[in-house]
Amino acid sequence: MKALGYNHYGKPDVFEEVTMPTPTVGTDEVLLKTKFVSIHPVDALIRSGGFSGGHALNQLLIPGSEVLGEIVELGTDVQGFAKGDIVIGKPGRAGYADYVVVHQSKVFHKPKDMPNEAAAGFSGVGNTAYYTLFDFGNIQAGETITILGASGGVGSIAIQIAKNEGLHVIAVASEKNKQYVLQLGADEFVDYKQPSQLEAIHDRADIVIDASLFASSAESGLALVKDGGRYVTLTRSPEAPTGKQIDIIDMRRTPDMTDKKAMDYLTALHEKHPVHVKPTALFPFSVKGVVAAHTALEDGSLSKKILLEV
Ligand SMILES: NC(=O)c1ccc[n+]([C@@H]2O[C@H](COP(=O)([O-])OP(=O)(O)OC[C@H]3O[C@@H](n4cnc5c(N)ncnc54)[C@H](OP(=O)(O)O)[C@@H]3O)[C@@H](O)[C@H]2O)c1
Repeated sequence: MKALGYNHYGKPDVFEEVTMPTPTVGTDEVLLKTKFVSIHPVDALIRSGGFSGGHALNQLLIPGSEVLGEIVELGTDVQGFAKGDIVIGKPGRAGYADYVVVHQSKVFHKPKDMPNEAAAGFSGVGNTAYYTLFDFGNIQAGETITILGASGGVGSIAIQIAKNEGLHVIAVASEKNKQYVLQLGADEFVDYKQPSQLEAIHDRADIVIDASLFASSAESGLALVKDGGRYVTLTRSPEAPTGKQIDIIDMRRTPDMTDKKAMDYLTALHEKHPVHVKPTALFPFSVKGVVAAHTALEDGSLSKKILLEV
C-alpha cells in the first residue's frame, strides 16, 4: 500500500511517499480502504517538531488520526459493521495511507445523510467541541459563551452545540465568515481583526472558549470573560494578568474522553437538526498534495476543513 510520512521534523516538504505491506486485521479490528484523510492542526505541530522536546525523529512517522473509508476486511469479533460500510475511522495514527487498520471501538457509522466529505472531518472537531463545552466548560443554559475561532472546524460545531443547549453565542472570526457563523446560529458576530469590536464584548461572557488556530487569541481572549467566569483553551494557556477571578481550564485529553459518548450526542443532534460541518478543501493523496495541504493549514487563510482525497 501507499503511505505518506516523514523521518525527520521540519517544514511541509519533509513528506515522502512510502510503499509498505497492507496491514492485516486482528480479531477486533477492521481494515479500511481510505477515501478521505482529515488533516488536523496538531498534525502540523507534530511534523514541525513542536512536541519533540528537541529530540530528532530518525524513524518513519505516518501521521493521520481520522479517516473516512470503506470496510474491506473485518476481524472475527467485530460486531455492528459489515464489508462495504463507509465509516469514520479514528486510528490515532498511520491514517495518511490508502489502507488503515482501526480497532472496532474507534469505528463509527456516519450520521444519517451526512455526505462523505463532511463526515470525513466531522468526528475529530465534533468530539473536541463536545468535550470542550460539556466536560471542560460545564456549559449551562442561559449563559453567554464567546467562541474564538468560531468559523473553524471546532468552533463551528461548538456554536451549534451551544445553541442546542440554550446559550447565547458570540462568535469571533474574520469578517469573510460573518454570514457563515450567523447562519450556524450565532447570536452576535465580532471580527477579531477589529480591536474596537473586541473591546465592545469585554467582560460579557460567562465562558470563553479559545478554538482559534494555534491559540492566536490566547492573550486578548481573557479580557472577554466576566469576573468569575471560565476560559477554556484548546492549545495554550494565556498568561496575562487580568485583575479578575477567572478559571483558566487547559483542555487535555483524558481517558474519559471516549469518542463514543461524543459521537452518540453529535449523531442525535444531527438527527434533530442537521449539523453543518465546515466546508472542505480537497488535496490529492500524493507528496505534492500533502505538502500543499500542510502549507495551506499553517497559512490559515483557506478557512476550509482540509482533506486528502485518496
Ligand atoms: N486539544 C484538543 O484536543 C484539540 C483538538 C482539535 C483542535 N485543537 C486546536 O483547536 C484549534 C482549532 O482547531 P480547528 O481544527 O477548528 O482549526 P481551523 O478549522 O483551522 O479553525 C481555526 C479558527 O481560528 C481562526 N483564526 C485564524 N487565525 C486567527 C487569529 N490570528 N486570531 C484569531 N483567530 C484566528 C479562524 O478564523 P477565520 O478563518 O475566520 O479567520 C478559524 O475560525 C487549533 O489550535 C487546534 O490545534 C485542539
